[in-house]
Amino acid sequence: MSIDYEQKIPNNVDLAGDKTLQRALEHWQPEFLNWWGDMGPEGSGAFDVYLRTAISVDPGGWANFGHVKMPDYRWGIFLNPAIPDRKISFGAHKGEPVWQEVPGEYRSNLRRIIVTQGDTEPASVEQQRHLGLTCPSLYDLRNLFQVNVEEGRHLWAMVYLLHRYFGRDGREEAEALLERRSGDADNPRILGAFNERTPDWLSFFMFTYFTDRDGKFQLAALAESAFDPLARTTKFMHTEEAHHMFVGESGVARIIQRTCEVMAQNKVDDPARVRSLGVIDLPTMQRYVNFHSSVTLDLFGSDVSSNAATFYTTGLKGRFEEARITDDHVLLDQSYPVFEPVAGALVTREAPALNALNERLRDDFVKDSVAGIARWNRIIQKAGIDFQLAVPHKAFHRQIGPLAGLKVSPEGRVLSEAQWSGHVGQWLPTTEDRAFVGSLMGRVVEPGKFVNWIAPPAAGINKQPVNFEYVRFN
Ligand SMILES: [Fe+2]
Ligand SMILES: [Fe+2]
Repeated sequence: MSIDYEQKIPNNVDLAGDKTLQRALEHWQPEFLNWWGDMGPEGSGAFDVYLRTAISVDPGGWANFGHVKMPDYRWGIFLNPAIPDRKISFGAHKGEPVWQEVPGEYRSNLRRIIVTQGDTEPASVEQQRHLGLTCPSLYDLRNLFQVNVEEGRHLWAMVYLLHRYFGRDGREEAEALLERRSGDADNPRILGAFNERTPDWLSFFMFTYFTDRDGKFQLAALAESAFDPLARTTKFMHTEEAHHMFVGESGVARIIQRTCEVMAQNKVDDPARVRSLGVIDLPTMQRYVNFHSSVTLDLFGSDVSSNAATFYTTGLKGRFEEARITDDHVLLDQSYPVFEPVAGALVTREAPALNALNERLRDDFVKDSVAGIARWNRIIQKAGIDFQLAVPHKAFHRQIGPLAGLKVSPEGRVLSEAQWSGHVGQWLPTTEDRAFVGSLMGRVVEPGKFVNWIAPPAAGINKQPVNFEYVRFN
C-alpha cells in the first residue's frame, strides 16, 4: 500500500486509473491551496517546517520527516488496505458483505455524515491560524503546524469520498467545505465547538486534548462503517489523530509542570501571586478544562437521537470498538442510561440503546479523557501541591440535548439561575482569565528556548534534540 508521490495528488487509490475523478480533484486542488493561503497558518508560507509526511499506510509509514514549506506539503488520498471479505458487523445488514458503492437509499445520510466530519477539519485550521504569531517555542510551533497540515489532509480524505462516490452534489459539498468559515455569522462551520475561538495556546492544548479526542471517537465509529471506503479512510485518519492528542496532553502537562515548579520555588499558592510570577494558576487551568470538556461533549449530539439509531441500524456508523463489544450488535431489545431533567432535578432513565448511541459514544469519550487528567494530577501531586484537576459532570454547561435547559454545577448539582450566575466565574474562564492568559502569550523562536509559562518537553520530535531548528523562517 505504498503511496504514489509521482502524481500531482499523492494517493494509494490508483487515481490515475480514473481520469474524470483525477481531473475533478486536480481542479479542487488549487482551490484548496487558495483556502490554505487565505485561512491556513498566518504568514507561514515561506517557513521550512520539520514535518512528517506519510509515505505509506503501513505502521512504519510515518518514518519520513524533513523540512517542508507548508504550501508544498504533499496532501493526498490515503486509505488503509481493504480487509478481504469484510462483513458488516452491526445493524440490520449484519453479516452481509460491506459496500464498495453507496446504496441509493442511504446516500443522503452518508453524505451528511461525511460532510459533517469533513467540515471540522478545515474549521480547526481556521480556529488556530493566528497561534503561530505567539508560539511558546519552535518545538511547539512545529507541532501546531503538523496538526494543521494533517487536518488539511483529513479534509482531502473526506473530499475524495465526496468526489468519488457522490457525483455532482458531492462536488458541490466539496466546494462548500472551502467556503464556510469558522465563527462567520453568515456562513459558519456546521458544529458549535468549531466556531469557538482558539485565542491562546492554553486553549489550543485544551482543544487538541478534548476536541481532537472527539475526532478520535467519531473516526473510530466511522471506521466500523458498512461503507468500506469510509471505513478505510477513517482508519488511516485515526492514526494521524494520535499525535494531535499527544500535543494536547503533553502541552497541558508542561504548563502544569512549570506552574508547579514556580509555586514550589516561591512557596506561593494564591492564584493572584502565582499569576504575578508569570505562570498560569491551577484554578484557571480547571476553568479551561471545564469549558473545553463541556463544549466537546456537545459535539456528540443529542442524548437520545433517532438519527443515531438510523445511522447504526443502516450500518453507516458503528460504536467505538464495535468488534470488542459482546452483545447482538443489533440492539433492538436493549436499553442504555441517559440523564433526564425531571422537575428541576437530574434523573437517570433507561432509553432504547439504539437511540442512546450518541450518549454511549460520549461516555466512551469521557472514560478516555479522564486518564490524561490523572496523569496531569500526578505532576501536581509530585510537586507536593494540594490541588486536583477534574473533568466536570456530564450535565455541566451543556448547550445541546435535554440538559441544555439546566444549570448544573461541575459536581452535578442542579442550580437555580441565581446560583449559577453567582458561581459561573469560578467555573468557566472569565474575561479576566482570558485576558491574563492572552497577556502571557509572546513569541519565542530561538531554538531550545521556551517562554516562561511552559516547561520544555522531555524529548524532541523524531529523536531530534529539543533545541533542534524545527522551523526555519528564511
Ligand atoms: Fe482531523
Ligand atoms: Fe485532529
